[in-house]
Amino acid sequence: MENDFPISQIVQRYDLAADKDLLYSYEELRRLNLDQRFIYTLLQTFEDEKTFSEKEYEIFSLETIIDYLRRTHSYYLSKKLLEIEQSIDILLKDYSGNHPLLHILNTFFNEYTSHLSSHIREEEKHLLPYIKNLLALEKENADTETYFAITNNYSLQTFIDSHHDTEKDLSIIRNTILEYQPPVSNQTPYRILVSQLQAFERDLFVHALIEDRILIPRALELEKRLRALYNQAP
Ligand SMILES: [Fe+2]
Ligand SMILES: [Fe+2]
Repeated sequence: MENDFPISQIVQRYDLAADKDLLYSYEELRRLNLDQRFIYTLLQTFEDEKTFSEKEYEIFSLETIIDYLRRTHSYYLSKKLLEIEQSIDILLKDYSGNHPLLHILNTFFNEYTSHLSSHIREEEKHLLPYIKNLLALEKENADTETYFAITNNYSLQTFIDSHHDTEKDLSIIRNTILEYQPPVSNQTPYRILVSQLQAFERDLFVHALIEDRILIPRALELEKRLRALYNQAP
C-alpha cells in the first residue's frame, strides 16, 4: 500500500485539502485544531490493524471518536460509494448481453449500498445521538426525569443485538468479481474497481474496530455509571 494512501483518505473526511506533501497535511491539522495524535493513531491502525489496541485510543474523548465516525459515515455515502458506482458504470460498458458479471455488479452492489446506507442511518439516527445524550447527562448533572426520558426506549444492548459488520459482504462481491477474467477491451477499470473495493473493505474494517472495540465498550461503561447514579437518586 502506498504510504500516503491512508493519510489522504483520513484527511478527506475532515474537509482538508489532501495534499501529497504529508507535512502540509499535518500543518493543516494543527491549523484546524484537530488532534494530531488521533490522526496519527488512526493512521497506524489503517497501516497495520494488528497494532490496534483499545489502550492507545484511551486518551481520546468519546466526542472525538463520535466525530470521526460521523465524518466517516458521510465520507462513505457521499464519496466512496459514488466512486465505486462510477467504476462499475465504466466497467459495465465493456460487457454486453447477459454476462453473469453484469448481474453481480448491478444487483449485488445496489443491495449492498442500500444495506450499508440503512446501517449508517440507524447509527446516525439512534446510536450516536443516544451516546451524545448520555455524555450530556453526565456533564450537566441532569434530573432523573431527563435521564428516564433518554433511556426509556433505547439502550446500547438494543443496538448491539442488531449490529452487524458490513465489510464481509463487500469482500464476497470482490471475490465474485475476481472469479471472472477482466474484459479484453479494457482491463484498467476492472483493476481500479477491484482495488477500490479492497480499500473500502479495509476502511470498513477499521471503522468497525473503532465502533465495536472503542465506542461501544466505552459507551457501555458510561451507561452503566449513569444507571447506577440515577437509580440511586432519591
Ligand atoms: Fe458506522
Ligand atoms: Fe456500524
